[in-house]
Amino acid sequence: MASPLDAAQFRELCGRFATGVVVVTASPASGAPAGMTANSFASVSLEPPLVSVNVDRGSEFHAVIERAASFAINVLSQDQEWISRRFAASASNRFDGVGYRRSERGSIVLAGVVAVIECETLERIPVGDHTIVIGRVVGGDTHDLAPLLYYRGGYRTLG
Ligand SMILES: Cc1cc2nc3c(=O)[nH]c(=O)nc-3n(C[C@H](O)[C@H](O)[C@H](O)COP(=O)(O)O)c2cc1C
Repeated sequence: MASPLDAAQFRELCGRFATGVVVVTASPASGAPAGMTANSFASVSLEPPLVSVNVDRGSEFHAVIERAASFAINVLSQDQEWISRRFAASASNRFDGVGYRRSERGSIVLAGVVAVIECETLERIPVGDHTIVIGRVVGGDTHDLAPLLYYRGGYRTLG
């Protein structure tokens, strides 16, 4: 039988898949905005339009997304590596100095992103140490900016 895969091997394997970087935002009951960097975003279904993101059950953001009726996927642009780092590190207020607005639907939309995808939470599926959060896409917006990429544990840009 093959030996069990360790975390480093798992990261090495999955790290060869280049992704974009998003900040998932949602509002806890307190009303203050919350957000977390993620690269596990995926489109799931066209009819109906569904997307997913996987959230670590050990993260603080998990407690927020567990209760949120809606959330937004903010696709970061190439100048927003610092935002990715900010929303992946522990900080008392990740939104300090970060421009954002509330959309008409109440989504938290970061300034300067390539796209925002507004979702109503459809389903939460606990798998392993993460929860797959499925959202029904209800709106969004795009901007002609170059995206931020993530590959083999580091940030990249197109070209
Ligand atoms: C590029 C990148 C991608 C990440 N993708 C995910 C992800 O898909 N899901 C996840 O749960 N955490 C992901 N993380 C880690 C979280 O951003 C990190 O654990 C965060 O600090 C959790 O914060 P919290 O405990 O305050 O919610 C990623 C981090 C980076 C830098």
